Amino acid sequence: DSLDTLYKAVGKIYFGNIAEASKLSGQNGAILKRNFGQVTPEWSMKWEATEPNRDQFTFDASDAVVDWASSNGKSIRGHALLWHIALPQWVQSITDKAELTSVIENHIANVVGRWKGKIRAWDVVNEIFNDDGSLRASVFSSVLGEDFVGIAFRAARKADPKAKLYINDYSLDNVEWAKLPALVRKVKEWKAQGIPIDGIGSQTHLQPGMAGAIESSLRELTTADVEVAVTELDIVGANPEEYKTVVQACYHVPKCVGVTIWGVRDPDSWQADTKPLLFDANFDAKPAYGAIVDYL
Ligand code: XIL
Repeated sequence: DSLDTLYKAVGKIYFGNIAEASKLSGQNGAILKRNFGQVTPEWSMKWEATEPNRDQFTFDASDAVVDWASSNGKSIRGHALLWHIALPQWVQSITDKAELTSVIENHIANVVGRWKGKIRAWDVVNEIFNDDGSLRASVFSSVLGEDFVGIAFRAARKADPKAKLYINDYSLDNVEWAKLPALVRKVKEWKAQGIPIDGIGSQTHLQPGMAGAIESSLRELTTADVEVAVTELDIVGANPEEYKTVVQACYHVPKCVGVTIWGVRDPDSWQADTKPLLFDANFDAKPAYGAIVDYL
């Protein structure tokens, strides 16, 4: 069975994972090919990877993922255009509004334009809120206030009119937490101003006990009149019931398009010590994998 085939059979658009050039062959590549219908580059589309020096674009690593995905029939989530991490020092030291605006527009025109028509969805801005719902301090917000959001989304729409444009964040896992309603309110406000936001991505990096709140959280995100997606799922300890619950949550919410797991094998996770993924060090499927297959 393939997670992607099963999820599509119940009406979802994809079941995905992350990829990089080094993970497309061998056992990791075989698992991606068989089980997953969508890939997100874990690193290679971030700013420090695509434009490490001003106006010098490097696409070897990201092209490898896009080419592999295209030739294997996988859809792609582009990740992430504006993020305060993996952001080169030369960008962080800009202080002039007009200069930063043109740097953002040039970055997005080149990166999004590179794969026009090939990327299903882009994370245009990533982690721009603090947990209390205020705007995070970054070079983008300190130089441009919240105007950087409209600048980024409009540039992305212009570069690839068919890509779904997302705002992506974490701590959107519970309707009681301050970030969720604050983000929904801002997305409504920005959309009313004509900013082309199509989707909200909920990273969904979970601690044990949090899965039960995901369905109502995803539903609440859709009140901003957008599609939603679980974009970076991992669960500390990988409890099978909790994995099932998150997959079920997206299934139950009609506007949730799909789930992306943030890694294949535990030792390759960004939080390897918590063993949060669906496959163990030997690439054997863990109980959480079976729980999802049984549910679907
Ligand atoms: C992480 C990668 O998994 C790591 O390998 C890298 O060192 C740092 O970034 N939120 C995000 C992802 O949006 O891009 C992050 O990915 C995890 C947190």
